[in-house]
Amino acid sequence: MQLPIPAGPVALRAWRREDVEALAAEANSRAVWRNMIHTFPHPYTLEDAEQWVDGCIDQSPQRDLVIASNDRLIGVCGIQLGEGVSTYTGSVGYWLGEQHWGRGIASTAFAAFLEYVWATFPVERLQAEVFAWNPASARVLEKNGFTLEGTRRKAIHKDGELIDEWFYSLLREDR
Ligand SMILES: CC(C)(COP(=O)(O)OP(=O)(O)OC[C@H]1O[C@@H](n2cnc3c(N)ncnc32)[C@H](O)[C@@H]1OP(=O)(O)O)[C@@H](O)C(=O)NCCC(=O)NCCS
Repeated sequence: MQLPIPAGPVALRAWRREDVEALAAEANSRAVWRNMIHTFPHPYTLEDAEQWVDGCIDQSPQRDLVIASNDRLIGVCGIQLGEGVSTYTGSVGYWLGEQHWGRGIASTAFAAFLEYVWATFPVERLQAEVFAWNPASARVLEKNGFTLEGTRRKAIHKDGELIDEWFYSLLREDR
């Protein structure tokens, strides 16, 4: 599937070195960090952004895509491909800089990302985990056809709290 992919007011595109500054600016947010797994740093420095962009720029095909508004990075969508017995499973995720929340951008960008994923990777199952204090993300998944498979009670330790984790999935045949 050809990049960039238009997605309403934004587009999904491949990474560029020039994304480092916008990435550090958008990702350096406690509100974003609070909903991400432990590998997402806070504070999010320029060095963190450089390291991330370095890891993305040579991906072929791209597993992580930039969510861009007027060509500037405002968020990220990505997939981690499973291995071994999980070869046909992909774990998907996304985040958006805080000032862009509440305008339907994540739902639209993620819908476009799913089209890209189904067309690009031979996965049969997509899964996503959501911390139970993040109903907005659960809604993004549900609006895109994901089903709640279950709750892992107190599975997550984040920001000094033990919280539940919601487990969502979407099969290729569910589309
Ligand atoms: C989760 C996130 C991507 C949502 O981005 P967004 O662009 O604001 O999302 P959208 O506007 O497309 O959709 C949000 C939906 O959640 C709903 N919502 C928002 N806050 C809510 C709440 N407290 N309770 C229930 N629903 C809520 C909105 O009404 C909307 O649903 P609707 O279209 O049916 O009205 C963004 O908040 C974010 O980046 N958060 C930090 C990182 C993160 O959580 N990543 C996902 C990890 S699983």
